[in-house]
Amino acid sequence: MTSFHINGRLVIVDAEDDAPLLWVIRDAIGLTGTKFGCGIGMCGACTVHVGGRPTRSCVTPLVSVAGAEITTIEGLEGKHPLQTAWADHQVPQCGYCQSGQIMQAASLIRDFPAPTDEDIDAVMAGNLCRCMAYVRIRNAIKQAAAQARKVAADE
Ligand code: FES
Ligand code: FES
Repeated sequence: MTSFHINGRLVIVDAEDDAPLLWVIRDAIGLTGTKFGCGIGMCGACTVHVGGRPTRSCVTPLVSVAGAEITTIEGLEGKHPLQTAWADHQVPQCGYCQSGQIMQAASLIRDFPAPTDEDIDAVMAGNLCRCMAYVRIRNAIKQAAAQARKVAADE
């Protein structure tokens, strides 16, 4: 048995210690917003946050997240600035890579409140998009970062 919090909820999972976190999230917990792409940590489709950091869940063994706080795409708070920006810029095409892109971007705008093109390219480099939505992703990240700065300034 392995226990951890996911999107603020305590879960206890009966699975092998080396079970990939991705499959635990999708099959045992039933949160299917996190996607399987390559399965070897190379595409970013399966990105979730573990302890607030972007993590490739396909190569993360269950035992390593015991006691951790995990956030998936379903757990992004309310109307996150990234969700608004993604809609405004009509970022998704097929959509398959997008939950991973957004989870990576959520950590990016925390670490880089005013990201440059270079910051975005560096942090997002491991999140692949077969539909080549990279320019829209970059523009949406800039809009979301600006919105997050505005919210922080108003608080
Ligand atoms: S499915 Fe995890 S990085 Fe590709
Ligand atoms: S939107 Fe299709 S793979 Fe990224």
